[in-house]
Formats: sequence, structure tokens, C-alpha cells
Amino acid sequence: MALSIRLSAADPLTASTDLLAVGVIQGPLDKQKLLVAFNGALEGALFAEAERAEFTGAPDTVLEVQTGGRLPTKRVLLIGLGPKRGVDAARLRIFAATAARCGNALLATSVGLVPPDKASGPLMRSLGEGVVLGAYRFTKYLTGDRKPKKEIADVEVFKSGKPSAAEKKALDRGVAVGNSVCVARDAVNEPPNELTPERMAQIARDISKAGKLKITVLDKAGIAKAGMKLHYAVGQGSSNEPRFIHMSYVPKRAKKKIVFVGKGLTFDSGGLCIKPAPGMGEMKSDMGGAAAVLGVMSAISELSPNVEVHGIIGAAENMPDGAAYRPGDIFGSLDGKTVEIINTDAEGRLVLADALAYARKLEPDLIVDAATLTGACMVALGKNCTGFYTADDKLAKSVDHAAKDAGENFWRMPLLPEIREQLKSDCADLKHTGERWGGSISAALFLREFVGEVPWVHCDIAGPAFSDAPRGVLPKGGTGHPVLTFLNLVESFN
Ligand code: BES
Ligand code: MN
Ligand code: ZN
Repeated sequence: MALSIRLSAADPLTASTDLLAVGVIQGPLDKQKLLVAFNGALEGALFAEAERAEFTGAPDTVLEVQTGGRLPTKRVLLIGLGPKRGVDAARLRIFAATAARCGNALLATSVGLVPPDKASGPLMRSLGEGVVLGAYRFTKYLTGDRKPKKEIADVEVFKSGKPSAAEKKALDRGVAVGNSVCVARDAVNEPPNELTPERMAQIARDISKAGKLKITVLDKAGIAKAGMKLHYAVGQGSSNEPRFIHMSYVPKRAKKKIVFVGKGLTFDSGGLCIKPAPGMGEMKSDMGGAAAVLGVMSAISELSPNVEVHGIIGAAENMPDGAAYRPGDIFGSLDGKTVEIINTDAEGRLVLADALAYARKLEPDLIVDAATLTGACMVALGKNCTGFYTADDKLAKSVDHAAKDAGENFWRMPLLPEIREQLKSDCADLKHTGERWGGSISAALFLREFVGEVPWVHCDIAGPAFSDAPRGVLPKGGTGHPVLTFLNLVESFN
């Protein structure tokens, strides 16, 4: 996207943008100096409109006021920020995203942002992220009238006092990070006939080339040769052959090593245990974990942290076919353990098992996986929250912290030892599914069998990878969740 964004020390009243978005702290509007100035210039129309619409600056509320030539900007958009103490990175990101989204909806090409005074220093990054996230639309497959003719192209951030070089850099970094989240969104939104495992590998190659990362891709024969028997089994029923993808960023003097692992089911029909038709199309988003890994790796070379970062993707398509794997089959794995197949729709944990065993061999300080793994996790936590699992309390705190700053919902789930009983098989080392109850937990416990002693966080992103409606920084469709949390986690390791 060709979007230019810059900082300005000018008086926002002089802005001549198509839209001027002003952040409003919740409370009496006539106590806020800037709003009083705007109201004066608009001959009282601002406060009159606010009173009529009962606009008080509550979070997630907006008020559009036409300036009718009384100011150089065409319209002023008041955006509620909620109470002052709640104005943090996440809130500022939503503010900027709301401005950008409204800008596109109103066919504006230039947008001015007037953030609250609090938005200075490193918080500038959130504004850059928010603008890109809010402006995002997936229009690739629209033609003719359906294709938007205008999109916001120029964004000016008005800041009182001279902007520092560090603030400019933070803003630019925010744009880069926002674009990386959109890499993940695009991948999720691509239809499954286009985004096959090989196409996913091609995206990974392109990202690696642009960011000077190392990359290895294994094709179907390579996966067999490497001994990834579970990954191979899941992919064997599709003519879109599986791929195993390993990208790496290795700075010279890094003290820590993190590996991200993503479930990359480009489509999950359920296989022979086929899913019901309603909602099956949503399973194009079953590569949300892989998309997040692509997003993280595309941001990493921009952020250049002093941490070694690996991105691993198990890509496959789960289809019913004469060659498809079946319930009752037993397969070995890269780890060596044998697995009895119970339900071919529980394919994600199989692909991940081999990817986690591979990740473990890199001897990292931390493995983090992301997977649209279980419907059960959505039943537990709803559609907008990741369930995460880790045995390490300190790590859990770091995840909570990273997620809060990212504005992404994460909730820790328990690795209950009694549920492990459900994975005992009569004829193999493990069954790959347990009972219906606690289905997200048994999936996590299955994965745990393949990570060994390495500190590990498992993120079940089945709900938040895909959104039914736009909200905050999120569009409808692919969300790019949990790229921001993962990047914060990397930076906390710096
Ligand atoms: N990809 C699905 C999980 C899913 C469901 C993600 C809905 C997003 C929305 C996964 O492969 C799956 O089918 N899981 C089964 C496991 C079961 C067969 C043990 C499930 O959750 O029903
Ligand atoms: Mn499935
Ligand atoms: Zn799946």
C-alpha cells in the first residue's frame, strides 16, 4: 500500500485534510482546550452537535462534523478515547485505526490525526500501526464498481512541540509492523484454491528475500525423507501437496533464540471425517497460525532485534480422497512416537507435532506455536480470545504483558494432567484426540508430547484469527492476530 505518513508540529486548526480525526478524552468537552478552539472556529457547531448526539468521548464512539468552509479541513471526526488513564498503546492504535477506516469509508485521501498529548515518544509506533491496520481492505478479487476508487494515501499526525527523530522512527516502525500484520491478513483472506501449500512457500520465499532471511522449504518427498510422517499423512489426500517451511533470522551476537511454529492448513475439509457444509468455507482460515508466522518474520528484519528468530510452518491441505489418511491408521513421527489416528479432522495437532519436534532440535530458549486448533477453545473463550498454554508461570506473565500492549485478548488455560489419560492408545504410543470435553486441553497435551523440555507456549487462535465484523483495529475476515503479541514477546527478549 502506498501510504505516506508524517509528523507535523503545525496547529491542527490549519490542517487542510479531507478528514481531521481528533482524539477526545471522556469528560466535559468544554474543559479540553483544543476542542474549545475547534468549537470556536466552527461557531459553536461542534459542541452543539456533540450535545445532540450525546457524544462524551466514550471509547469506540465517533462524531462527524462538517466544517462547511469554516476550517480548511472538510470534516472533523471526534473519536472517543475513554478516560485519560485508559489511554495506552492499545487505545491509541484503535484511535488511529478508526480514523483510517472512517477515512476510507468517507472517500477521503488525506487524513489528519490529532492524538492526545499522551501520544508521544515510543507510543507514536501505535499510531503508525493503527493507521495501516485501519486502512486495510482486501480488494484483490473485486472488479469494476466493486473495486474501491479511492483510499487514504496521506496521513499527517499533529503533535504539539517539535517531533523528535525517535518519534519519527517510532511512527515509521509502526507502519512497517502494521504492514506485516497485513501480510498475515492477506494470507488468511486468500481463497484456498489460490493459497495452496506451495503458494504459501512462495510467499515465505518472497518475505525471506526482501528481509534477507534464510529459508528452507521441503516438498512432499522432502517431508517424507525428513521423517515427518504425521505431516505427510495429513497432506497425502490432497493434490495440493504439503510443504514444510523454515525461515530464520540470525543476528551476529544474539543471546536468545525463539522459534515460532504455525499451523498452515490451507484448507481443512475435515478429510474422511468430513465437516458439515455450513461454515466449511471458513476453513480457508485454518492457516491463521502460519499466516502469523509469515507476519512475524516479515516484521523481524525491519525491527532487527538482537534475538535469533525462526519461523516454521507446517503447510498442508486436509482433503478426503482415495489416498487420504484414515481413522485407525498408525503413523510414526519425527520425534519417534507412534500415533493412532482417531478423527481425521484433528489434523492440525499432527502437522504441529512434527513441526514442534523439528523446532526442538534447534535448541531454542523458547518455542511459541500458533494454531487454529480447536472449536472447543472457541466454545470456552469466544471468538475474540486466544487460549494459551504454558507450564512456566513467568512465561505466562510475559505473554499476558505482550498481549495487553498489543490490544489482543489472551487467556491462560490449564494443562490438566488427568486429561492426559485420554490420549492413551491400545495399539500405539498415543491417540491423537481425547473426549469432547476439554477438547482444547487434550489438543495442547498432545502437542506437549513433542516439545520435550524446551520452554513452550501454545496459542489456540481458532477464534480470533478470523473476524465476523470489523471492530477496533480489526477488519472483517483475516485479522492478523497474534502478530503484534508475538512481536512484543520477541522485543521483551531483546
Ligand atoms: N481447524 C479446526 C478447528 C477450528 C474449528 C478452527 C472452527 C476454527 C474454527 C480443527 O482442525 C478441527 O477440526 N478440530 C476439531 C478437533 C476434533 C475432531 C477433536 C474440532 O475442534 O472439532
Ligand atoms: Mn480439522
Ligand atoms: Zn484444522
